[in-house]
Amino acid sequence: MSIARLTGVGVRKGDSWILKEVNFEVGAGQRWVIIGPNGAGKTTLLRILATQLFPTVGTVEILDERLGAVDVFELRPRIGLTSAALLDQFEFGEKVIDIALTAAWGFTGRWREEYADEDIARAHSLLHLMEVDHLSERVFGTLSEGEKKRVQLARALMPNPELLLLDEPAAGMDIGARESMLLQLAIIALDPLSPATVMVTHHLEEIPIGTTHAIILKEGAVMSAGLIEDVINSVTVSLAFGMNIKVAHEEGRWSART
Ligand SMILES: Nc1ncnc2c1ncn2[C@@H]1O[C@H](COP(=O)(O)OP(=O)(O)OP(=O)(O)O)[C@@H](O)[C@H]1O
Ligand SMILES: [Mg+2]
Repeated sequence: MSIARLTGVGVRKGDSWILKEVNFEVGAGQRWVIIGPNGAGKTTLLRILATQLFPTVGTVEILDERLGAVDVFELRPRIGLTSAALLDQFEFGEKVIDIALTAAWGFTGRWREEYADEDIARAHSLLHLMEVDHLSERVFGTLSEGEKKRVQLARALMPNPELLLLDEPAAGMDIGARESMLLQLAIIALDPLSPATVMVTHHLEEIPIGTTHAIILKEGAVMSAGLIEDVINSVTVSLAFGMNIKVAHEEGRWSART
C-alpha cells in the first residue's frame, strides 16, 4: 500500500510557485524527514500530506484515496498531525486529558462527546508514553512549550493513525527535553507497528534514530529524495543551504557544522 503519493505537485501563491514539480512517495513502514532552508516549502508539503492544502497542479493520493475525489473529513482521522500552528487552535483552558481525547473525533475543543472507557485508558497510556500523564488534569495553556509538544504528540497518536506528520517536534526545547523527545520519537520510529511518519526539522541533530528516508527541499523543488544515507551528506546539505557544511553520522544520529 502506498501511504502517500504526490505526482507533479505544484503550489502557486500569488505570482510565485512555492512548490514545483514535486514527486514524492511514502511507503508503508517508512520514516521520512524533510529538511531544507527557511521558506523552502517544508510546511507547505506537510500541509498537503495533512489534506489541509490542495495543490494548484498535480495529483495527491493519501492512504489510497485521491484528494479531490474523497471527503477529507473522512481521511483526516486516519492522519496524525502535530504542528506549532495547530497548538494555537487549542483552547487555553482545555484540560490535557481532553486535548488527547478529542483527537478520537478529530475535534479541537471538547463539546458534548461521550468517550468510552477504552478511549480514556488509551489517552492516559499515550500521555504516559510521552511522560506527561501526571499533567493530565492540568489546564493545557499552563504547560511549558516542551510539555505542550509531548501532549500534542500523544494526541496525534490517539486515533491510531496510518500516517503521522510532525512539523518540528523538537523545536524550542532545551537539551534535556529535546533528547528525551528524540528518544520517544526513536521508540515510535523503531516500532514496526507505528504509522508511516513524515517529519520536518531544521536541524540534523533533531532527526530521530530509526529515520529511513529523507527529502531535501530547496526553493520549492525536491533537490534529493530517497534513503537517508544516500540523501544526507556534506555535498547535498552544503548545496541546499548555500554554504560549506560538514555532515556527520554517528551512532544513528546526524549533525552538521560549518
Ligand atoms: N499563503 C501564502 N501566501 C504567500 N506565500 C506563502 C503562503 N504560504 C507560504 N508562503 C511562502 O511559501 C514559501 C514556503 O513556505 P513554507 O512555510 O512551506 O516554508 P518552510 O520550508 O516550512 O519554512 P520554515 O523553515 O521557515 O518553516 C515561503 O516563502 C512562504 O513565505
Ligand atoms: Mg515551516
